[in-house]
Amino acid sequence: MEERIVTTKKLEEDKFEATIRPDSLDEYIGQEEIKENLSVFMKAAKMRNESLDHVLLYGPPGLGKTTLAYIIAHEMDGEIKTVSGPSIEKSGDLAAVLSTLELGDVLFIDEIHRIPRYIEEILYSAMEDFSLDIIVGSDSTSRNIKIDLPPFTLVGATTRAGDLTGPLRDRFGIVFKLKYYTVEELTKIVKRTSKVLDCPIDDDAAIELATRSRGTPRIANRLFKRVRDYALVMGNGYINLEITKLALDRLKVDSLGLDETDYHFLKAIIEKFNGGPVGIEAIASSIGEEQTTIEDVYEPYLLQIGLLKRTPRGRMVTEKAYEHLKIKSQETLF
Ligand SMILES: Nc1ncnc2c1ncn2[C@@H]1O[C@H](COP(=O)(O)OP(=O)(O)OP(=O)(O)O)[C@@H](O)[C@H]1O
Ligand SMILES: [Mg+2]
Repeated sequence: MEERIVTTKKLEEDKFEATIRPDSLDEYIGQEEIKENLSVFMKAAKMRNESLDHVLLYGPPGLGKTTLAYIIAHEMDGEIKTVSGPSIEKSGDLAAVLSTLELGDVLFIDEIHRIPRYIEEILYSAMEDFSLDIIVGSDSTSRNIKIDLPPFTLVGATTRAGDLTGPLRDRFGIVFKLKYYTVEELTKIVKRTSKVLDCPIDDDAAIELATRSRGTPRIANRLFKRVRDYALVMGNGYINLEITKLALDRLKVDSLGLDETDYHFLKAIIEKFNGGPVGIEAIASSIGEEQTTIEDVYEPYLLQIGLLKRTPRGRMVTEKAYEHLKIKSQETLF
């Protein structure tokens, strides 16, 4: 399938994310509750001369988990060492990163739910008593060694908090759930990006872009870049409402930020399953998608804006979805 413009996944072009990523809490827009709490916890840790408690960040892709991890390291005056769950294959991989940590550093583990179970156990003692218990040597010569680690902060990020084991989850003193951003917050993010990239945008254009960004900063920034291209080639470089609408229409991003994939998904439920309720497995096989992709990528936003709902008997499209897709709900009864 063609890569979606509104995908929340990181794309090759998102390398530019690093350049527009806010690096202090003050510049981080939205997620007010998280910011307030985090700033108290960070101040308290500093006053006590301790490392910040371990932090678990969860929520849909592109909402700013990695960004927050970097901000924590920056605000705590530590270095950040990054690993991703699936890349840790042997216990030695994890031991290697742990042994490079210095006092106050942040160990950022992205996709933490994907660390193999037997490796996860190494994290328990590392998190709890800052010690690394590992077995070295092969069968006949193997022995246990215990290495002290400096106090550090583990920041774990995941899109699937439910997939985390109980013991791992319990070892995080601070757990934050990131929420979708409001249009007002996304508008601020778009304006900030416009400043950083030195590419002006009209207020009404920024609001339009924000409205069509699925509550997700990553998408807002990506759409900004595309609209900027249209403005340059088809206009005079300046981003106004007209060029924004034109660009987003051409990119097939609708007024709610839905694209063809969403239409395909919603229409499948309506046309093949009478609007639901239908089990996720059945939808997945009918549109030829992975169940996890549907759960992590398609559904969260559709649920959030009320086009879809979850019932004990499966997924259902709502009246609002019929309206938005301009399909009469009775039509599907026959
Ligand atoms: N609160 C925010 N204020 C301003 N910009 C933000 C904010 N949150 C995220 N961004 C922007 O969105 C981009 C994506 O955020 P980030 O990479 O932190 O998402 P993520 O939650 O780690 O996603 P994933 O689950 O895919 O790893 C960042 O590069 C940043 O520019
Ligand atoms: Mg990330």
